Amino acid sequence: MLHQFAPLRFRRKLASISLLLVIVQNETSIAPIINSIYKILTNPKIDNLNPKFTSHFINSKIDTELDEKYIKSYLEFRQSKHLYDPIITLSVYLNYLNTQYSENSVKIPFSWEDWVDLSYLNEFLDDGKSLTCKQFVDKYKYEIDFEWNDSTPSSSLVDKTNCLDTMDYIITDEGKHRSKKLLPGFNFQKKLDKVSTFMGKAYNAKSYLLSYAPKPDFIYFLTDNGKYFRAETKQSSSMLRNGLLKNFLTSESYNGFNPIEQLSKLNKFYEIEHEHTFKLRLNNDNNYQIDIPDENFDVDFATRYKYLFETDDSLLKDNELNFKNSLKRSFQMKTEDIPKYLDEVNITPNHEYRGHKVRENGNHYDSRFFAGFISEMPASEISIHNPRSILNNSEIKSTATPENIKNSILSHLSHLLFTVTFNDGLFLIPAHGTLLSWYFNSMSFPWDEDADVQMPIGDLAEFCLRYNNSMVVENPKYGTAKGYVDCGTAITHREKGNGNNIIDARIIDVDSGMYIDITGLSVSEDEMDENYLKKFDKWVSNELKIDYNILQESRQKEVEMERAYKLRDERERAEKEKLQRERELLKIEKENLEKEKESFEAAKKNYDNKENKNDADDKQRKEKRNLEKSVKDIHKQHKIFNCRNRHFYSYDQFSPLRLTLYEGAPTLVAVNDSALRSQVEIDHDALFNTEHKNYHFSKPLRAWLYAYDILQAELAIGLNPKPDKSVNEIKKNNQIEAREVCPTYRENQVKVFYELVKQSIYDTTSEDLIYTYEYLMDEERNLKNQSQVINYLSKIPVYFKTEKKPFINIFEEVYHNKELTHAHEAEMKLYDNTWNLSDPNIIDNLKPLTNKESLGEWMLKDHAPPRVPLYDYIKFAEQEFKIDKTE
Ligand SMILES: *[C@@H]1O[C@H](CO)[C@@H](O)[C@H](O)[C@H]1NC(C)=O
Ligand SMILES: *[C@@H]1O[C@H](CO)[C@@H](O)[C@H](O)[C@H]1NC(C)=O
Ligand SMILES: *[C@@H]1O[C@H](CO)[C@@H](O)[C@H](O)[C@H]1NC(C)=O
Ligand SMILES: *[C@@H]1O[C@H](CO)[C@@H](O)[C@H](O)[C@H]1NC(C)=O
Ligand SMILES: *[C@@H]1O[C@H](CO)[C@@H](O)[C@H](O)[C@H]1NC(C)=O
Ligand SMILES: *[C@@H]1O[C@H](CO)[C@@H](O)[C@H](O)[C@H]1NC(C)=O
Repeated sequence: MLHQFAPLRFRRKLASISLLLVIVQNETSIAPIINSIYKILTNPKIDNLNPKFTSHFINSKIDTELDEKYIKSYLEFRQSKHLYDPIITLSVYLNYLNTQYSENSVKIPFSWEDWVDLSYLNEFLDDGKSLTCKQFVDKYKYEIDFEWNDSTPSSSLVDKTNCLDTMDYIITDEGKHRSKKLLPGFNFQKKLDKVSTFMGKAYNAKSYLLSYAPKPDFIYFLTDNGKYFRAETKQSSSMLRNGLLKNFLTSESYNGFNPIEQLSKLNKFYEIEHEHTFKLRLNNDNNYQIDIPDENFDVDFATRYKYLFETDDSLLKDNELNFKNSLKRSFQMKTEDIPKYLDEVNITPNHEYRGHKVRENGNHYDSRFFAGFISEMPASEISIHNPRSILNNSEIKSTATPENIKNSILSHLSHLLFTVTFNDGLFLIPAHGTLLSWYFNSMSFPWDEDADVQMPIGDLAEFCLRYNNSMVVENPKYGTAKGYVDCGTAITHREKGNGNNIIDARIIDVDSGMYIDITGLSVSEDEMDENYLKKFDKWVSNELKIDYNILQESRQKEVEMERAYKLRDERERAEKEKLQRERELLKIEKENLEKEKESFEAAKKNYDNKENKNDADDKQRKEKRNLEKSVKDIHKQHKIFNCRNRHFYSYDQFSPLRLTLYEGAPTLVAVNDSALRSQVEIDHDALFNTEHKNYHFSKPLRAWLYAYDILQAELAIGLNPKPDKSVNEIKKNNQIEAREVCPTYRENQVKVFYELVKQSIYDTTSEDLIYTYEYLMDEERNLKNQSQVINYLSKIPVYFKTEKKPFINIFEEVYHNKELTHAHEAEMKLYDNTWNLSDPNIIDNLKPLTNKESLGEWMLKDHAPPRVPLYDYIKFAEQEFKIDKTE
């Protein structure tokens, strides 16, 4: 096979870098090493050499064709077990959509069974392995606080347990869509809201998705240039039982499973492009800038969405009806009583798993799509697998790392969300830590657990109307990520209130439950405190301060008045008590009774009058208050907005915005660099801090390096950054902080970096080594056996090692990031003269983007997310292991 020879050429290229590295070792800068890496990795030939060097799913060498044998075992397996293969699901649903369009029918049959990996539940499907709700709750240590014995039927406790045994479930409306064989015994209507072990929550979630989760209103299939196909859904059984899969396989046009091809076959007539896409608007502006209309920050929901209330429910689409009902409920709620809407995973603190204390907490996962703690489980157990590994039913071996899995998930989910909103002309901008990560290299931090974005309330409302309770599917060219959009009901409330709903909405990764927090920005009655006013001195006008002062003064007056009322009330109470005591006395002194009674009545009358007068005062006070400006009025006038967690911003901090990219997708950030930095809300030095937790930001590489990798490299060349400790002692802890290894790195930069590169070469080519060996054998070269090959290679001097691989592979990192970080550097040079997070000595061999026009034009093209798609990565990691083993 041709592509088996390729790695050799590739390897020789890498080997030539190593030779070069030897030569440059005397240098004091690592720039020449990185420049030679760029030289090789920007060669277009690289793209097809190694599965790790593909930026598009379209080029994927991992699983290009699903063979007959595989499809047969897939079909058989799914008769009695759960299995998810995104390639099959996407192909079948897209093909159905195609026929649906030609037949002009409306809805696509939907089942979560086809869209999520439910294979966790397979262990309960074997004979005698199924569990009743009660057995399940006992086994996974749910801390329930109610009586539950074996003779209680599940239906009688369902209000508390949210769980029905299969016997009781199968006769319900939901149950009729499910095959009894595929039910694990327990069926959760939602999360059982008591803490348990995390695996309990994972099974709970999978059971909910299987048995109860409502269908999404729409599926959005993203295509090129920010367009999409939109399909309405109807609840159904899986594609194996409703005939979708069979029809696909037997149709005349069947030509294997290829979602990219299926998508391209869809009738372009139905492809949607939003008329307000920023793409068109920015193209018309030479500076690629845009203003946010300030009315986007203040929405009168009753007026804006009056049309929904004037339309009969039966004429509304599912999403419109859902939104209308939410508004109704929201109007009825009191800010102080709104229950928490978004739901994370609640686990027993510090419980043990596989002999270690669980460190992750559930706050970074949505409870419905939770598939286990990614960084607590061995790779073999993380629920996202190559379907082939599950079919094989043997123990899964994998070289996947939790960091890479999380990075891939967040990267593709972000790409999806930014792509959708940008192309629908909805303002959505990176915020908090996400904005900070953008500042460095326009990608998420490798340690991120979630992402944060903000939307003006008007844009958020439209986003929720269009996308709430819908699933957005990534363009299959880039991967198979799916984001489920969930907006809190109380969207009309813009104050913090009880703090339950400081996050307005989320887009949730369907595979894992990881998510991006979306918060709305709006004028509100919440007001800035002293600290904020001080911090924002630059951004708030004097007039605002004057208005705030007036408000404060009138409040002060109110306080004084209140104090006066309180004093009066106290005096009156004392008086009343005195009268009471006197009345007691009167009872004794009967002779004076009549006289005193009279005076008592008189006093009481007087008191009642005063009470009436109090009420009148109150009313007057309220009226007076209404005449003054409320906080919201002041904020509206001075354009001050906040999210429900009381982060305040002035309009000038946002607008105008300019085009940029985040995780390869288009988005917008403030043009004014000082405005931008003020949004991050951290002090100036932290903004340029290249050491963070377990990572170091390498300016020449424009990427984060894992401190433990640096440590490994240091130790390998005999440098111990912690001389007071033995090597073995240090190596035990892979959580070493960047500040502990960086001083040694700075002093020996070239040597340490050279070692990092060598370790990365080994990592990318462990498989190539085998190909190389086979190739050499085949060709009957002089080298006849493996040890000779290794010996030969070690002289190059790339050497074969069996040591732990680096967490972050420098070649893969540069290969996938290069265009994005190149553009980011170019834009920061154009827009922000204080940005210095790159190395001027780097020559990256990419087309220079030296002005706003060329940059803007490049940014408006489609780009893949800079991380390998999750399923490609997982497949590779599970396959790679096999290769390593056979060797
Ligand atoms: C089981 O619990 C129910 C209440 O849920 C109670 O009525 C019944 O007596 C209990 N039975 C046993 C055997 O404890
Ligand atoms: C299952 O594993 C065997 C042996 O490791 C392999 O030959 C076979 O191709 C695998 N099947 C699938 C579907 O990957
Ligand atoms: C979003 O959808 C969910 C589920 O259908 C619903 O409970 C919620 O109120 C909706 N939110 C908005 C803002 O429409
Ligand atoms: C950015 O905003 C700051 C603060 O308002 C202002 O002083 C500065 O002039 C602005 N810079 C530009 C280039 O407009
Ligand atoms: C491989 O080659 C080396 C060097 O020629 C030789 O010592 C060794 O015995 C060979 N091994 C095998 C398995 O043929
Ligand atoms: C980078 O810029 C920051 C802020 O302007 C400054 O504090 C820092 O010293 C600069 N670092 C270098 C290496 O120039």
